[in-house]
Parts: sequence; structure tokens; C-alpha cells
Amino acid sequence: MLLIKNGRVIDPKTKTNAILDILIDEDKIIKIDEHIEEENADVLDATNLIVAPGLIDNHVHFRDPGFTHKETLETGANAAKAGGFTTVVCMGNTKPCVDNVEVLQDIQKRAESLPIHVLQTANVTLGMKGKELTNMVSLKEAGTIGFTDDGVPISDPKVMLEAMRVAKSLNMPISLHEEDPALVGSAGVNAGPIADSLGIAGASHLAEETITARDCLLAKETGCRIDIQHLSSGTSVDIIRFMKNLGVDVWTEVTPQHLTLTEEDVLTQGANAKVNPPLRSETDRMKLIEGLVDGTIDMIVTDHAPHAREEKDKGIVHGAPSGMIGLETSLALSLTALVEPGFMKVEDVIEKMTLKPAEFYRMDKGTITVGKDADLCIFDENEQWIISEADFHSKSHNSPFIGRRVKGRVRYTICGGKIVYSHNQEVA
Ligand code: DOR
Ligand code: ZN
Repeated sequence: MLLIKNGRVIDPKTKTNAILDILIDEDKIIKIDEHIEEENADVLDATNLIVAPGLIDNHVHFRDPGFTHKETLETGANAAKAGGFTTVVCMGNTKPCVDNVEVLQDIQKRAESLPIHVLQTANVTLGMKGKELTNMVSLKEAGTIGFTDDGVPISDPKVMLEAMRVAKSLNMPISLHEEDPALVGSAGVNAGPIADSLGIAGASHLAEETITARDCLLAKETGCRIDIQHLSSGTSVDIIRFMKNLGVDVWTEVTPQHLTLTEEDVLTQGANAKVNPPLRSETDRMKLIEGLVDGTIDMIVTDHAPHAREEKDKGIVHGAPSGMIGLETSLALSLTALVEPGFMKVEDVIEKMTLKPAEFYRMDKGTITVGKDADLCIFDENEQWIISEADFHSKSHNSPFIGRRVKGRVRYTICGGKIVYSHNQEVA
């Protein structure tokens, strides 16, 4: 047994925010109380620390199979646990991509032995080509958690409409990367003065807004639950707010990078700040924060997108791939961007990183409740630290945040009742 003593337990589901003890037996929480004594338990002293549900990231890329020089299921899981995550949802843009049951089941099988829960989405279209639907029925039967072609948009509205009809009949959600290729001159940098100065066309905010509006209308028609992934534009937030008011079952995500950085950072961070959809203006960034605060945006996700150094070294103009790692910096960046300046309370940030992602996929997770899985993230909200490349567990180090001072540090990650990560002492 494991007894966690004197931590500030914050649980968004039960609206708990109090100094409590938690007793764990095997993989379950068996008691939560002001004072618990248990002779047979190992004690973890959580004085001055926050005990939150294990973080859940609905959007990561573990590159396995096919791009394991960037990340593997193992290194990805190690990065996740170091970031306080106990559940992550992998995108399907691997090689081969996850458009069939064999690839899905291979990943699921290998994920069983990992220290945290690694769940896998399947593709909406064959080869992620946006033309023909995958066999969504058999992929559901094989246990996929949801569907997405993340990395690329689904351009053809008829294909999208049919996909939503099928997904709705299966009671499954679709997650959508919204960038209309017709309006993307070049990917990864916002169209505007910064892109101009680099001599590239850039990706217009219109690319995201137009297709976001289209897909919300298709979701309204079909009743399908959708997730508009990694929002970047302020006007997209306005569109979603409107669509939610119409009753569309639309959920949204935002990343710490879009909450923290703007297109200006491309000038200093180079290819490490190249991401799809791109970092945009300060006005966009503030509207994303406003959207999170008023509930238009439901979830904070990382879009953890590892790329090798030699790939990023090609430079923005000459073909560096888009994306950045994020699992190990997400909590600290989110607290620093949202709580430190007073936009949100720590419990509200926790809700966006635990309960809401769980609710989107209807997972029985994201809460600290007796009888539920003992998946916890224990962190110090006041510890200041400087993000250092040497600390990364991910196989790739493509982060524009190296050298940045942040506040809030994961101290322990507990998954299935086991301490799988401790900041001061590595746990296998
Ligand atoms: O920048 C990105 N990189 N955005 C995506 O949607 C995909 C990701 C990747 O797979 O590298
Ligand atoms: Zn992604």
C-alpha cells in the first residue's frame, strides 16, 4: 500500500481542494481523508505539494512504427511520465499509418508493458489521403479510442461528411487538423510580415478558420462529436463559441506553445518554432487564453511532435519538418502562462489537463475518487526552474523553450498505484 500524506488534493470532478491523505492499495484509491494512518503502507510526504489526477494528453506523436529515430513508444512514455502524464493518446501518422487493424493492434500490444497508459487513435482515411474511409467499424472493434488524420486535413467535404456519419453511428469522435491546403502557401509559419521577411508565403489564419467552420457545420448536421485540434487563431475561437452555442458537439484543444509564443519567436528560435498550425499574433494568443477561460476551449494538449536534430537543422526555409516536443514542459508552461499572470486558477488548469480530456473520449479517468485508478500527478506549483535540454527524456530535443524560466515542477507521477517517476530519483 502507498499512503500519500498532507498534499493539497485538487480534483476538478468532485471540486475537491483541501489538504488530505490518500491511501492506495494495488492500483486503486481506497481511502481519502483528513488523517489516515496505515502501518503497512509506504508513505510519500506531499507536504506543500499539489496532488492532482494524473495528467491526460489527448494529442501526442510517438513515431512508432516508422520514425523511431525521433521517438519510440518507450521514450515517448518516459517523456510523458516525467511530465506528470499517466495517459496519452497517440496520433496515427506513423509509417505505416494506423489505417488498418494490424498496425493498431501491434501498437496496442507493445503499449501494454509501458509504465503509463498509451492509447492509440486510428486514421479516418486510407493512407491519410483524404479519399476513402478506413474500415472504421473493425478499427473500433479492435479498440481504437478515436479517429484522426492529424498532421493533414481532410479536404473533401463529402469524405468528411461521410466519415462523421459513420463515426456518429459508432458513437466515436473524430479529431481534426484544420488547415485547408489551398490557403497554406508554406506550412509552419504564420502568413504575414515575419514570413515575408523569411521570403516564404506562410500559412494563413484563414486556412484554419474556413475549414473549422465547415466541419462544425458538418458536425451539426450529423451529430458527430468532433475535436478541433491545436487551435491557433483567435477568430477560430469566435467560430467555436458560436458553434457551441448552436449545440454542436464540438470540443477544442490548445497547446502550451500557442498560449506562450507568437510568430515573433520564429525569428529567435528558428525551425524549433516551426509548427502546424503556426504560432500567430499576440492578439490571437490573447483570444486563445480568453477562450480557455470562458470554456470555449476545453483541453490543453501538447501535440508532442519529436523531430531529429539533423531534420530541424535544415532550417525553416529549406525543409525542416514542423512540430515541437512538449510532454515534459506542458504543465510548467501552462501554469506559467495562465496562473502566474492571474488568468486562471491552478484547479482550472488541472481540469483542462485531466477531466476534460477524459470526458472527450469518455474515459473513466481524470479524477481522484475512491474506487478509481490510482493515477496521480504530484507537483510543486511554486518551484521555479529553467528548462534544460539535458533533462529531456524524449529521444528528440526540438523545443523552443530550452533556457526558459518557468514555475511549477512535477515531483512524482503515480500510475496504477506505482511511483513511475520521481523528480529527484529516477524510478524504472
Ligand atoms: O507541427 C506539427 N507536427 N503539426 C502536426 O499536426 C503534426 C506534427 C507532426 O507529426 O510532426
Ligand atoms: Zn499533431
